[in-house]
Amino acid sequence: MRMAGKVAVITGGARGQGAAEAALFAREGARVVVTDVDETGGRATAAGFGGEFARMDVSDEAAWEEVLDGVLARHGRLDVLVNNAARYWTRPLMEESVSGLGQIFAVNLHGPFLGIRAAAKRMSGGGSIINVSSTAGTTGYPGHGAYGMTKWALRGLTKVAAAELAAQGIRVNCLIPGAIAGPMLEQSVPAEVLADPAHWAGTPLARAGRPDEVAQAALFLACDDSSYLTGTELVVDGGATGTG
Ligand SMILES: NC(=O)c1ccc[n+]([C@@H]2O[C@H](COP(=O)([O-])OP(=O)(O)OC[C@H]3O[C@@H](n4cnc5c(N)ncnc54)[C@H](O)[C@@H]3O)[C@@H](O)[C@H]2O)c1
Repeated sequence: MRMAGKVAVITGGARGQGAAEAALFAREGARVVVTDVDETGGRATAAGFGGEFARMDVSDEAAWEEVLDGVLARHGRLDVLVNNAARYWTRPLMEESVSGLGQIFAVNLHGPFLGIRAAAKRMSGGGSIINVSSTAGTTGYPGHGAYGMTKWALRGLTKVAAAELAAQGIRVNCLIPGAIAGPMLEQSVPAEVLADPAHWAGTPLARAGRPDEVAQAALFLACDDSSYLTGTELVVDGGATGTG
């Protein structure tokens, strides 16, 4: 019960990694609030482990205030925020647009910025904030211009927030998943390619990760086992970017 007594909010928790994190945190004793723009999926996920759902678009500052006020009203505390929600597409730089950048920045970067600020002012007994970046934020994958910019920037935001919020006992760390099975990955790599062992030649563990494997890393950063970690990065990519 590594999350006993803690209250956790997870953005984009309707499916994928966020849903896996929500279920794992709840199994470890946390009271978990799943948030997402997908109300049907979010409600189903939360119901699966007896948690709560709140609709929240992470790019909406007023929604952050309302949802986190509700969390404090119902639970009296906030200990953990996972900034997991993101949009994703691949597009060559020459085909990207300023309006495309605006759309993806609003969710992937402004969302965590708003979340850090809204959560930090409500975490009275310290806390843990986890920003979910990507190996597209540590390397230069073709087609990952807009998405990659947000994920690179999120690493910088993590470090600044860690430095500024440490005095309040709030730790801020970055989770860096590689290729993780699910709808987001299948948007850029067809299922038959993912099933081909040749596709994994550059990945020592030779497969995609699973959402529950990322959730275990998120749990470590969320709970007190990582009490001396802040401003750091935990890469969960089967060795794809660390061994070449
Ligand atoms: N899947 C991968 O291979 C992979 C790799 C590296 C990093 N990541 C990162 O991990 C995180 C989770 O990815 P996933 O694979 O579970 O993605 P996913 O697409 O399965 O889930 C993302 C969730 O975010 C929600 N969402 C989108 N826009 C939102 C908004 N404006 N407000 C609130 N919620 C919103 C979606 O409804 C969805 O439920 C993301 O930050 C992603 O960038 C994923």
